[in-house]
Amino acid sequence: MTTVEQTHTTHARQEPRRGVPRHVAIIMDGNGRWAQERGLPRTFGHDAGTENIRRIVRAAVELGIEYLTLWAFSTENWNRPADEVQTIISLIARSIERELDELDREGARLRHIGSLGGLDPQLAGAVIGAIERTRDNDRIVLTLAFNYGGRAEILHAVKRLLEDRVDPTTVDEALFAQYLHTHDLPDPDLIVRTAGEFRFSGYLPWQAVYAEYWSAPVNWPDFGANELREAAAVYARRVRKFGGLAPGSTEEAQEPS
Ligand code: IPE
Ligand code: IPE
Ligand code: MG
Repeated sequence: MTTVEQTHTTHARQEPRRGVPRHVAIIMDGNGRWAQERGLPRTFGHDAGTENIRRIVRAAVELGIEYLTLWAFSTENWNRPADEVQTIISLIARSIERELDELDREGARLRHIGSLGGLDPQLAGAVIGAIERTRDNDRIVLTLAFNYGGRAEILHAVKRLLEDRVDPTTVDEALFAQYLHTHDLPDPDLIVRTAGEFRFSGYLPWQAVYAEYWSAPVNWPDFGANELREAAAVYARRVRKFGGLAPGSTEEAQEPS
């Protein structure tokens, strides 16, 4: 306990660093390929991929990233063979159990997006316990997306709006965003997908509209601190316009006619 408290005192959040994405969301892809390239069963790749999370959280903290959102299991991943699904779910449960002390010491506040419904109650309980235990940490917000699908999230929001009998004339983007799992997170600035893929597969469809995108050519277990730094460096060179003009542009914004 003492160690945790002492560590927390050193965890005052730093000023956001110039050019550093505040919220990075990663599609951790390529575990199966990583294993297959080594002649190993796919489950070894999931094991190596889960181990990699610790390394990337640490690297993200060092870079000054404030929000890190990692996609570990999609609603569509239930379509995989039952034994692979079982392995992935057990690895998530085991890593929460094993890593919680260390994450707490690092000042990480845990979040979950996706549905806990339909999961093993012990796992759901462990997630809720981890969120509760780390709720006052303020160095990085680590959101685990599992049993997460973008369409499922939007449908869930629509159902809750209807259940609340919200007056349609009051529904705007800000209100709708309050009904999403990410209601207390800023939109991602940078989405990274590993394994050289160029698709979103349903990741944060509402939230990622103005995110920058980077496809890393390595499988997730090989994505280390250098690769994260590279993604952040690419991001720092991008010009974000949000539908307007580039900052510093000499042209005057046109008044709507
Ligand atoms: C990512 O790796 C982990 C999950 C989707 C659960 P994959 O298992 O998708 O690996 P590949 O894409 O088959 O190599
Ligand atoms: C997306 O990867 C989901 C996660 C990384 C958890 P998939 O491997 O499931 O995506 P597709 O099927 O190749 O699009
Ligand atoms: Mg994949």
